[in-house]
Amino acid sequence: MKNILKIYIESFGHTGKGVGRINGKVVFADYALPKEEIVVRIIRERKNYIETEAVDILKPSAFRVKPVCPYYRLCGGCQLQHSAYEYQLTLKKDVFHNLFKRMIGYDIEDVDIVPSIDKFFYRKRAKFECFNDNWAFHKRNSDKMININRCYILDKQLNEYISKNRCRKGEIAVDDKNMVNGKNMLLDLSGVSSGLNIIYTKDVFRQVNRYINIKLINEIRSVLINNGASSILEFFSGIGNFTIPILECGMSVVAMEIDKDAILVLKNSAQRLRLDKKLKVKRVDLYKNITIKGNYSAVLLDPPRGGAAVLMKNILELLPELILYISCEPSTLLRDVKILLGRYDIKKVRLFDMFPQTYHFETLMVLSKR
Ligand SMILES: C[S@@+](CC[C@H](N)C(=O)[O-])C[C@H]1O[C@@H](n2cnc3c(N)ncnc32)[C@H](O)[C@@H]1O
Repeated sequence: MKNILKIYIESFGHTGKGVGRINGKVVFADYALPKEEIVVRIIRERKNYIETEAVDILKPSAFRVKPVCPYYRLCGGCQLQHSAYEYQLTLKKDVFHNLFKRMIGYDIEDVDIVPSIDKFFYRKRAKFECFNDNWAFHKRNSDKMININRCYILDKQLNEYISKNRCRKGEIAVDDKNMVNGKNMLLDLSGVSSGLNIIYTKDVFRQVNRYINIKLINEIRSVLINNGASSILEFFSGIGNFTIPILECGMSVVAMEIDKDAILVLKNSAQRLRLDKKLKVKRVDLYKNITIKGNYSAVLLDPPRGGAAVLMKNILELLPELILYISCEPSTLLRDVKILLGRYDIKKVRLFDMFPQTYHFETLMVLSKR
């Protein structure tokens, strides 16, 4: 087969690639949009599909725009800068819709996506490399480096920081009072409730997009309140980004997490805010087979990308009235939720655009017991 092909992009795949066909074989094309006629270069040919990237756009989508970042396509961080922002939202909804149909087996009604107020410069933290004595990211699909002096999705304070400081390997992070790599960093939750905040330490996990995080917390709180939940079991609680706002509603929480620094942040913040009376925190490896006992009105979980299949059996033993599953990877979310569907119905799905310019998004799925 020739190295260069002409294809029509029929749809959009779940890892941000345009999808077409050549001689019946599926072709995935980086930097392509649905309904475009493009020329692609083959990167890799597999038994059942071909991986390619767009090199020439013969008939562009009406939603194609010029990427703003000079490193786009060299750096692997963003995959959707060539799409207008509104269309990125449509694509993410379509991706979820198609994945849901394929994995769960029926059509879900149109799901809503909450847009980010900041389309660029939203990321509160990023992992850097140092290469040739310069700030660097990994090149796309490669272990090689690319030097960068500006990142269009990184917070402006962090961009200023890298322009003024010598490079170093590791994470740099900015807090909600614009302090970079501070000792005591602030997660300002006043958008949820006045005076609510978490003081955290560098290197623990915090949600990267401040505006979307507040939207997500508010949604979680209203689901719990509207369903009369009172006792919550929370898996993967981290620094208490959801725990603290839930405690503030007067509910009790048993929080489970593995990171001892994050646990300390949660305990200290709950104490300082006088919200610790109804909180129990347990350091647990949630990927091991564990036994959990107790009566909970709701289980809330926010696992890493790999999901939490092993915990589904615990949830089916506990049988809470309500499950709130928050996920940044729809394929593992749907795989896990499928295990619950004999006993639970999907009550609500809402997407949150935590990561503009990339193919990633956050999903909140609410399930209620039959
Ligand atoms: C996506 S973060 C969510 C954190 C928190 N809900 C938030 O919004 O900031 C996932 C969390 O899972 C925790 N985690 C990762 N592996 C774990 C494991 N094996 N057992 C328990 N927690 C784990 C991480 O430390 C991290 O805090």
